[in-house]
Amino acid sequence: MIQFPFYQNEWLGIKFTKLKCNLTLFRVAGELFYDSFYEVLFIKYKDMDELPSLWRKQKLETYKKLSLMMKKNSKVLSLGSGLGFIEDKIFNLRPDIFLECYDFSKLGGKFLYKKNPSLKYHSILPQKRYDVVFCVQFTYAFDNKNFIDFFSQIKQCLNKDSILISVDHSFNDVENDYKKPSTKLSFFDKIKIIIRPIYYLLFKKNKIQFWGWIRDNERLEFLFKKVGLEQIESFPYNGESFKVYKISNLI
Ligand SMILES: C[S@@+](CC[C@H](N)C(=O)[O-])C[C@H]1O[C@@H](n2cnc3c(N)ncnc32)[C@H](O)[C@@H]1O
Repeated sequence: MIQFPFYQNEWLGIKFTKLKCNLTLFRVAGELFYDSFYEVLFIKYKDMDELPSLWRKQKLETYKKLSLMMKKNSKVLSLGSGLGFIEDKIFNLRPDIFLECYDFSKLGGKFLYKKNPSLKYHSILPQKRYDVVFCVQFTYAFDNKNFIDFFSQIKQCLNKDSILISVDHSFNDVENDYKKPSTKLSFFDKIKIIIRPIYYLLFKKNKIQFWGWIRDNERLEFLFKKVGLEQIESFPYNGESFKVYKISNLI
């Protein structure tokens, strides 16, 4: 079971030093950080189609795979929908699906709701049941305690036949893409992980943000199990790790 904190200094071509908020190595990026980030992003990019093409290509593949996993006429909730590229595709290419989005940043979905004004967008968790709840690159944002608290609330949005799909970047490369060999950490890599925060604190304090936690699938499965969700499928696809959960029969 692996879990490490990780740090970022830029995302989607935007250096965090350009943001109005203070960066911190000790608190995970919160609502204020993401709002400041999206504010700057919307100055750089005026439309979804202007976002970096590699990023769009990756998200399109994720959409295609997710779409195959959603039955006709499903009620679907996207968690941490962010800029909403995947959600825009679902909304327009899967008109049978009843899609709603959730993200604590009210700003992130600007492109999405401008393009699709009838799409339901929540910044507070909806108290409803869905057939499918999915999240892409989202679980990293929670420490273990908040993970369990948050997904316990999400469990209330699931029926016994519902599924939760989590798409993450696993610490273990094999779990992201079967073509790549497993990355075994060398002694030097482990030392680097341990001293990285000290190095950042000494030399890069105002340039780096604590981003969240990178985990392997075993760790994620363990955390979801604590919530009462059991893993029923797991596979690597296009550099990401897809996992499917349902309410555990054991509880
Ligand atoms: C890395 S982005 C992923 C966005 C989108 N799912 C994608 O794949 O492009 C993570 C998103 O999760 C949101 N987020 C982070 N922590 C959150 C939390 N605790 N509650 C709700 N949303 C959160 C952020 O605002 C951000 O939009």
